[in-house]
Order: sequence, then C-alpha cells, then structure tokens
Amino acid sequence: MSAPTDAQRMEKIVSLCKRRGFIFQSSEIYGGLNGAWDYGPLGVELKRNLKNYWWRIMVHDRDDVVGMDGAILTHPAVLKASGHVEGFSDPMIDCRTCKAHLRADQLVEKKGVKQCPNCGGKDFTEARQFNLMFETHVGAAADESSIAYLRPETAQSIFVQFKNILEVSRKKLPFGIAQIGKAFRNEINPRNFTFRSREFEQMELEYFCRPEQGMELLEYWKEERLKFYDNIGISRANLHVLNVPDGERAFYSKGTYDIEYDFPFGRQELEGVAYRTDYDLSQHQKASGKSLEYFNEETKERIIPHVIEPSAGVDRTVLAMICEAYAEDEAPNDKGAMESRIVLRLHPRMAPVKCAIFPLLKNKEALVAKAKEIVALLRPDMAVFYDETGAIGRRYRRQDEIGTPFGVTIDFETLGEKDPGLRDTVTLRDRDSMKQERVAIQDLPVILRERIR
Ligand code: GAP
Repeated sequence: MSAPTDAQRMEKIVSLCKRRGFIFQSSEIYGGLNGAWDYGPLGVELKRNLKNYWWRIMVHDRDDVVGMDGAILTHPAVLKASGHVEGFSDPMIDCRTCKAHLRADQLVEKKGVKQCPNCGGKDFTEARQFNLMFETHVGAAADESSIAYLRPETAQSIFVQFKNILEVSRKKLPFGIAQIGKAFRNEINPRNFTFRSREFEQMELEYFCRPEQGMELLEYWKEERLKFYDNIGISRANLHVLNVPDGERAFYSKGTYDIEYDFPFGRQELEGVAYRTDYDLSQHQKASGKSLEYFNEETKERIIPHVIEPSAGVDRTVLAMICEAYAEDEAPNDKGAMESRIVLRLHPRMAPVKCAIFPLLKNKEALVAKAKEIVALLRPDMAVFYDETGAIGRRYRRQDEIGTPFGVTIDFETLGEKDPGLRDTVTLRDRDSMKQERVAIQDLPVILRERIR
C-alpha cells in the first residue's frame, strides 16, 4: 500500500526550510545546481545532532564497533572490484517530445501506455545504461591513467581497510566498522527536495560476522535501526519495513530490508539493511591479491567474514525528521487570543536550538543582565538562543517554528520584586504542551540536560 501524497504540505515544508535557514538550493544566486543543497545555520545543527547521535548509538555505546573516515577520491580498482564501474547504472531514455532525460522506471503509465511525466509524450529513445558515478582526474594528466571516482557509497573504503582496522582494533567476530561521510551519484532525475540528490551523506555500518550468524544478525540490525528512528522522534506508524523479494535484491544479498518512511510525496526508502554475504571482501581479495581473511585463534580456521550493512542517508533522515515534526496548530498571543502557529515538533535531542532565553523587557537592565547570566550558564551544555526583541508571544512563535523545545523567560518575579521567595526563578515553557513551570535558575542545567540527552 502506498502512502497518500500531500503536495501542499511539502511546499510549506520546503518554504519553511528556506525561510528559517535549514536548507538552501546550492549556488542559488546563479540559478542553482540541480541535485545539490546547502544547509544553513539551523540545518547544519540538525544534521550534526543526527550524525552525533548515530555515532553515539552505533559506535560509542558499543564494544563491538569502531569508526573510520575514508577518502572520497577512490582508486578505480576499488570500484572495478566492487562492480560499480561495470554495473552501477540506471537505464535512461530521452523523451523525443520535450527532450527530457528520464530514468526508464520513472515513466508514468496511463491506460497501459508509458508516458513522459513532464509532457505526457509517448515517443522515447531506446533505453541505454547510464553510469551514476562521478569521474574525475587526479594530477596533471587528464587521460585514462589518471581516472579516479568520487565514491558512490562510503562502504567500499570500509571493505578495503578491513584488514588494517582488524589488526589495529584487535576485534573478534562479530564486530563492525562505522563511517559517516559524503557520497556522490549523478542521479538522472534528482527530485523531491533533498530526497534524491547528487551529493549526499551516508551513515553506514559494515558488521562482520561468521556465515552462520548472518540471517540472525540481519533481523537484529533491522530491529536496532527501527529503535533508532523511534529515538529521534520518527513515529513507528510512519515507518514501514519492506522485505525486498528475491528477484529485486542485489544478486549477492541473502536478505535485504528497506526501512521506508511516509513522506508527503509518498512512501520512500530511508535506509537499507542488507545481508551482503562475503561478496565485497571476496571481490577485493581476488582483485588485490591481498588476503582479507579472518583468522580464528581458537579453531585455527581462516574465513572471509560475512557482512550485514545498515546504510542510512543523512539528508533523507533530516528531511524525514522535518516532515514528521511539521505541524500547524493554535497558540495564545500576548492578549490571550488564539492565533495559528507553525510548530516543528522535533525531538529535543535533535532540535537545532535547545533553549531560547527571553528577558521580559529589553530596556530593563536587571532583566537583561539575568538573562545573559542564564545564557552563560547553559551554553557549555547546549545550543541556546538569546532574543530580546518583540512581544514574548512573537518570540515564542519564532522559536516554535524552528523546533526549539524550551523557552526561559526572565521576569520581575526573577528579580524578587513581588515575592522574595521567587527570586532567581524563571518560567520554563514547553514548546508542545505550551505549559509553563517556575524553576530555580540553578536547577536549569540539570533539568534541561536530562530532557535533551
Ligand atoms: N552501501 C549501500 C548503499 O549505498 P543504497 O540503498 O544505494 O545502499 C543507502 O544507499 C542509503 O543512502 C539510502 O537508503 C538513502 O538513505 C541514501 N541515498 C542513496 N542515494 C541517495 C540520493 N541520491 N540522495 C540522497 N540519499 C541517498
């Protein structure tokens, strides 16, 4: 079953992303570079929070995973051995009516007839294979001998460094190597905002094991990854697990799950969890002539480990988080009347700004001084934002729209003017419930740290 689409909702999300500085089109002032995106001040924070959390869960919280950071420029021999030079391509056709270049599987079918999604034309060229890798030249000579590729996935550098990392980390099977980094694919039709880009980031784990552990670990990693999405605020109800059928998996895979999300433009893949068997290590061992075997000290046997690969897209997950969080509801303004508001209900651990700090009035020195003290108190633990301009309601609205989960207001009670018992207390407002609680300034770091962990 495919999810219903909502073009209007998507338009609002794209517009919010630009208006508030999450995501801009790359090279925008020159008309834009198709398939490339730049993250603005808030986007970069959201993206970083996601990557840091993935790293914490997949590497730091585990004894059996280590990390690496490989080069983007890749030796052609690596990608020949992996099969990318020969086979990493999409079938492409051109519409003879509007001249659009199209992926053959993206034609729309109406009454059994294939049509161009742009102009409805029915006259196409023959399909031809189009390799998705970006080729470049390394050094001064621009000939066959200097070809290198921008990596199309981070995974291959993990396989190629398997032996080095095994030796230095002294891990025993099963163990994993994790990496987060850029990947490049010359997609025929980049589309749906950042969903299908030509430059994007991946978060990949290659988890090596004995062959007989493979199927069980495939299930284990699928479940771990589903938990991860829950912990970043993506509801299970909007996630779907597709068990990729035999004929549609890579020929070397013994099992693959696609974790899909209901985006406003339809149900689409967020992450693949694939059992890649010993294909990659075997290919690199064969092509390089170097042993990539694992020696089991106890049984004295040598094997090429099998691998389970959870591979997630950073940009797609950021987009899913924003789509999941986007909401419109009503909130009271300064006079108590209800007004419509846009709110991003981002999980506090993912929100770009954790706490906004507002002195009630900007022309009252004592309020401003207290507010700045609180900024300094919280800054070592979290990203905070100080705002003294406009009515409090307006200031809340601006923060709601970017997903700031907490707001602290410094008022005359804080100065102890009415009730000395309330001196050095502030109101702490929750973005979602809009409830306010009175808390002591000195307790703020502990209370907030607990809620954003
Ligand atoms: N190493 C396995 C691999 O690369 P993939 O399914 O081709 O598998 C893994 O990619 C993930 O990378 C996808 O689930 C998606 O989140 C992300 N991804 C792939 N192509 C992308 C693109 N053109 N734009 C944005 N993200 C992409």
